[in-house]
Amino acid sequence: MTEDLINKKDIYFPSYTGANDKLITLLNRATQILSDWFSKTEKYGPLPLEEDFKCIMPEEDGSSTEDLFFEIQSLLNNSFNPVHPGSLAHLDPPPLIFSILGDLIAAGLNNNLLAYDLSPSITLLEESLCKWFAKKIGFNDSSGGIAASGGTLSNLNALIAARYNSGLGSDPDSVLLVSDDAHSSFIKCTRIMGLDEANLVRIKTDNKGCMDINNLKQTLDKCSLDNKKIFAIVATLGTTVRGAIDPINDISEICKEKNIWLHIDGSIGGIFALTSIPIVGLNNINQANSITINPQKIIGITKTSSLLLVSNMSTLENTFSTGLPYITSKENIINRGEIGIQGSRPAEVIKLWLGLRFLGLAGIEEILKSSIKRKNFFLKTISKNKFEIYSGPLHIVSFLPKGLEPKDSDAWTQSKVNELRKNKFMLSRPKFKGKYYLRAVMGNYNTKESHIEELLRLLEA
Ligand SMILES: Cc1ncc(COP(=O)(O)O)c(C=O)c1O
Repeated sequence: MTEDLINKKDIYFPSYTGANDKLITLLNRATQILSDWFSKTEKYGPLPLEEDFKCIMPEEDGSSTEDLFFEIQSLLNNSFNPVHPGSLAHLDPPPLIFSILGDLIAAGLNNNLLAYDLSPSITLLEESLCKWFAKKIGFNDSSGGIAASGGTLSNLNALIAARYNSGLGSDPDSVLLVSDDAHSSFIKCTRIMGLDEANLVRIKTDNKGCMDINNLKQTLDKCSLDNKKIFAIVATLGTTVRGAIDPINDISEICKEKNIWLHIDGSIGGIFALTSIPIVGLNNINQANSITINPQKIIGITKTSSLLLVSNMSTLENTFSTGLPYITSKENIINRGEIGIQGSRPAEVIKLWLGLRFLGLAGIEEILKSSIKRKNFFLKTISKNKFEIYSGPLHIVSFLPKGLEPKDSDAWTQSKVNELRKNKFMLSRPKFKGKYYLRAVMGNYNTKESHIEELLRLLEA
């Protein structure tokens, strides 16, 4: 055994006695590297200009701590930096500091949300926080929810529960209705459920990007003629490209009348329901059977943080409970590995809980209001003569110079994205209705009006 290995054995795992001095030294050093990286953000851009990270794989002998800290530094230097004020491309805001602490604590605890025995306090925390969210959006006492690693998985949890509870769990003719502008993850969900893309029925959107109710009614009639059995209608609360909100009230009435599960994909807009910010169309969400809320997308809870809230917890239990023969169960406590797709799962709820507790409702509202304010400033300042603009009630704007043909939209957006990147701005270029657009997501708390003015100057040049 080499000397290096003998020394290393001291820091394989935390010591169960003593002061853990070496652990503290390592954590302090990692914290310093991370904090320095944040502090130097201005100097670099949201994306590294030159990429030189070398992916070195494990060798026979383990690396020294010095080598590893060097590689950690290189990893950071070559990473996307969401803290930079020019980072406006996606729904990936700067991380809340209390959420970073939550991730650290969760990693150290290494508890497992699979079962109460492996995460007693955290099981109760997740259950209580889901219930708190569910009550806040207007669900009643039977409600609750489950966390999952991202919006795609929360939507999948919901759709599997919808299909199972409607008795169509193994019916190949069962279909799901979403709008033309719904997120692409529904295609993935359809495949995972063993269905064809034809089982994902698309409803047209109106000129504001919202589901067209007349088209929905016609489609329902056609499904019935074709003997297709609908297990869910999905209303999107904040579409990915323009932040539109489907007419939840009308859709929920149809779902009630026809006894169809209503799922709301509130990955982007759902969190606004915790506030009193007047968002047009954000009402009656408690009429849904399930709703996805992704606190990772705007308020900065570190990834991943997504919740599926359901009006009736028994729907999740019916769908996912199999019994865990190798786990001891406690009376009146549901093992959380039995109410969703994931089995072993980290304590992601800690960073959500700490983030929300630190912000309070006033802080959450302040962050969300600031994102709308930035979007409104952008809209007020951009030239309406030059640009075709798509934006709904949330904090997302997509735009393109007027009159561009599809192939010119491809070239223009590509060259603008490159030019912006050199000037430390990062926007995305979604493909939408046959053309490429530039998209600005105004969820970055560090972005000031002066940054938006500079961005617009570059865009209009
Ligand atoms: C409306 C909507 N739903 C679902 C998702 C998927 O979320 P995730 O990337 O967390 O899986 C996204 C992602 O941007 C989204 O915009």
